Amino acid sequence: MSETSRTPLLEIKDCTMKFPGVIALSGVSFSLLPGECHALVGENGAGKSTLAKCITGEYRMTEGSLFRAGEEVDLSSYSVSKSQHQGIAIVHQEFQLMEDLTSLENIFIGHYERKGLFIDWKAQKEKADELMEFLQCSINLTIPVKYLRTAEKQIVQLAKAIILDAEVVILDELTAVLQEKDIENIFRIINILKKKGIGLIYVSHRLDEVFEICDSYTVLCDGKHIKSGRVSEIDKPKLIEMIIGRELSSDLYPAFDGPIGDTILEVKNLTSKDTFKNVNLKVAAGEVVGIAGLVGAGKTELVNAIFGSYPVTNGEIYIKGKKTEIRNPMDAIRHKIGLVPDERKLLGLNMMYDVRNNTTLPSWKKFKKYRIFSDHKAEIEKAFEYNEKLKLKYRSLYQKVLNLSGGNQQKVVIAKWMLADSEIFLFDEPTRGIDVGAKFEIYKQIKELTNAGKAVIIVSPELEELIGLAHRIYIMFEGEIKDEVSGERKTQEVIINSLLGVN
Ligand SMILES: Nc1ncnc2c1ncn2[C@@H]1O[C@H](COP(=O)(O)OP(=O)(O)OP(=O)(O)O)[C@@H](O)[C@H]1O
Ligand SMILES: [Mg+2]
Repeated sequence: MSETSRTPLLEIKDCTMKFPGVIALSGVSFSLLPGECHALVGENGAGKSTLAKCITGEYRMTEGSLFRAGEEVDLSSYSVSKSQHQGIAIVHQEFQLMEDLTSLENIFIGHYERKGLFIDWKAQKEKADELMEFLQCSINLTIPVKYLRTAEKQIVQLAKAIILDAEVVILDELTAVLQEKDIENIFRIINILKKKGIGLIYVSHRLDEVFEICDSYTVLCDGKHIKSGRVSEIDKPKLIEMIIGRELSSDLYPAFDGPIGDTILEVKNLTSKDTFKNVNLKVAAGEVVGIAGLVGAGKTELVNAIFGSYPVTNGEIYIKGKKTEIRNPMDAIRHKIGLVPDERKLLGLNMMYDVRNNTTLPSWKKFKKYRIFSDHKAEIEKAFEYNEKLKLKYRSLYQKVLNLSGGNQQKVVIAKWMLADSEIFLFDEPTRGIDVGAKFEIYKQIKELTNAGKAVIIVSPELEELIGLAHRIYIMFEGEIKDEVSGERKTQEVIINSLLGVN
């Protein structure tokens, strides 16, 4: 059968979605064919998650229509449970698992198998085991989710979505938190689903993935439909151009060729009971140091320990050669250490505060007038300047960060620490979920920091990013620094082998 004669699994026509004061989507149309993976791409705040939620009935689109297998859906009574009955499933951008429940319980929440009045655990277990076998995954389904690795949690999220025999599966940045090896596993599963005739809508900022796994694409920009087409007919520069509305003027990574000064931070034998031990590392003024490691290697815990927000059982921290006690984040801030954390909802932002307050919180001292009053004007100007630098998409500085898109929340966290005038910057996965244009801006900012003599430590799951940014990369494996690469050894191959414990 030719492609055009197949009935699409899903068709969206002229979808418009308005929130108070924002038109999140306007006139978006595309269709999804059986067995195909459709990439939904665009800058942060372009409307991708909103479109996904309109399709699943979480939001009711203001205008437009939806067709499922050729039949128009009655949107006036559409809801999440109706979309599930119609075989539409989603894995959301933010984790939505109950950490204390087992995977099995999580998979069946809301749609238990029943035998009379009781939940039929045996049938559920069989069904879940069958699904895991189909996906060729072996995960212990009977332990609480909190004990699983991030990559396993993602597979549980996916299993939860497809257990109801979904035919349309939306994956909203499923791989943003994963690394190469786990992403390959997800791709393997996507291919299994495609072969079964399932259609997938794939949201991601990692554009290489689009070319590896997707068949068709839709680009959104500011809620508007830029273009849809076949992936085979475009290349990466073209896609970037469509997403950011211009060509990327130079390489994504700036040249870090400024002078490197004295060591600013040195960590000696830092140990935290079960998480990491005997970590030695240093970073100098003007230097970017990367930390690579698989999920669970202890990278996040390490940078948090340096920031005083993770317990340390042994070891010392030296700042400019002077032994320094950092017992809590207040100590760290006093010593001009800033942390851009990876769990932005928990640590980085106060969701109920507005953009301005979130941006200026750690640097409130700067905005004191006559010691007691806040200099609101200066505060607003600075918050504006930094958020503009990062191309934040927001309505006003007084908007709650809760209503920003995922990637734009991350930008506020970064702006906040850039403004805080730190000397040592700890970035934990700073570009997770950030669009390609904004990544470019963040890299430029990091370069400006090093030019100004700041020291930067960066943790990232994307090796390409570490190689592009860092002078030296420490490789962490099961809580220990196993290797350090720089110069000619700073290649994907050397690092991957080291990460996997091959050499
Ligand atoms: N519940 C809401 N109330 C008000 N505005 C919202 C709400 N949800 C999203 N928006 C706004 O709608 C626009 C689109 O947001 P959306 O989350 O769909 O972006 P996205 O493309 O998924 O971005 P990202 O790549 O950062 O995840 C943004 O301007 C956002 O601030
Ligand atoms: Mg989103």
